[in-house]
Amino acid sequence: MKIPFVDLLPQYHEVKQEIDAAIADVIENGRFIQGKPVKNFEAELAASVGVAHGAGVANATVGGWLVLKGLGIGPGDEVITTPLTAVPTAEYMTLAGAKPVFADIDPETYQLCPKKVEEKITEKTKALFPVHLYGIPANLDAFLELGKKYNIPVLEDAAQAQGAEWKGKRIGSYGKAACWSFFPSKNLGGFGDGGAVTTDDAELDEFVRMYADHGRKEKFTHEFPGANLRLDGIQAAVLSVKLRKLDDWNARRRAIAEIYDAELADVAEIITPKVYPGSTPVWHLYVVRAPKRDALRKYLGEKNIGTGLHYPLPLHLQPAFSDTGSEGSFPEAERATHEIVSLPMYPHMDPELARVVVSEIKNFLAANK
Ligand SMILES: Cc1ncc(COP(=O)(O)O)c(C=O)c1O
Repeated sequence: MKIPFVDLLPQYHEVKQEIDAAIADVIENGRFIQGKPVKNFEAELAASVGVAHGAGVANATVGGWLVLKGLGIGPGDEVITTPLTAVPTAEYMTLAGAKPVFADIDPETYQLCPKKVEEKITEKTKALFPVHLYGIPANLDAFLELGKKYNIPVLEDAAQAQGAEWKGKRIGSYGKAACWSFFPSKNLGGFGDGGAVTTDDAELDEFVRMYADHGRKEKFTHEFPGANLRLDGIQAAVLSVKLRKLDDWNARRRAIAEIYDAELADVAEIITPKVYPGSTPVWHLYVVRAPKRDALRKYLGEKNIGTGLHYPLPLHLQPAFSDTGSEGSFPEAERATHEIVSLPMYPHMDPELARVVVSEIKNFLAANK
């Protein structure tokens, strides 16, 4: 038996008819660029998040960049985020010309720690950019309070958390703006690259959509030099179909996470992820801490069980961001990178397979006391 880390094919098969028809419609009607499929998806996404505007963009890396640029954040400015995240989180800050400043994580939830963030706020800080890492909502109440106290916007990196909720409302609706990724393996994933920015701020929305479309609102009038950073029609058509399934697919992820939680509850060596009270995670990734992590991954691999590593290095130890810290700067994030392993998780995984994964983890632990 093989248990892959992620398998997207059964998801496609579930909605194949609708997706194939939606793609054919784009092709038949030549709606490849900035047509109705993109407009429809943008409106559906904004409605699902509970905000006024959604702008499709090429990916979340440029989405985060355009949010910062649209808010006038650039050279000389600092933006605070977590060092335990995907590289793009820091890249969109450097793309804007701003400096990423890291603060350590809360070791139980893996999310950016608000107390550590407050220690890093200076007059150069122009935004807080928490990430809802692994699909676990970050502590939005605490960040919004900090934003208010220091009069700086809170932005949300929602790339890994489509559909997650904080206190009964969708994440992405709390901050000044949110950036979204539709990379194929995300909870809402396209058939290629894709992203979006959502916001209640009409001016910011207009800047993002204009910049992403050569600085224009109308076909032949370019009001400022922008770029081509658009979401394309085929991706939007696919995403509209999948958005209708998102809540169901997230519920399936939660059912699998519940099995992992329950089956691992009495395994002292394995530490399962915690979430903040009142939040509803969507388990983009189910990440546990394990002793002898690398040996465990090797063992599971030999049993045909796929695992992942999110992430092997905190960003301040990546050569690209060596000016943001050094060994020892963010001990909890560093410790996590040595201990974490991402277990198989995708909506169409047979939940019973989670029990098989756990029993193999127990076998490994028994043999490696
Ligand atoms: C937390 C986070 N932010 C941003 C991104 C960037 O997304 P994209 O690949 O759409 O540029 C990713 C994707 O890996 C991510 O995981």
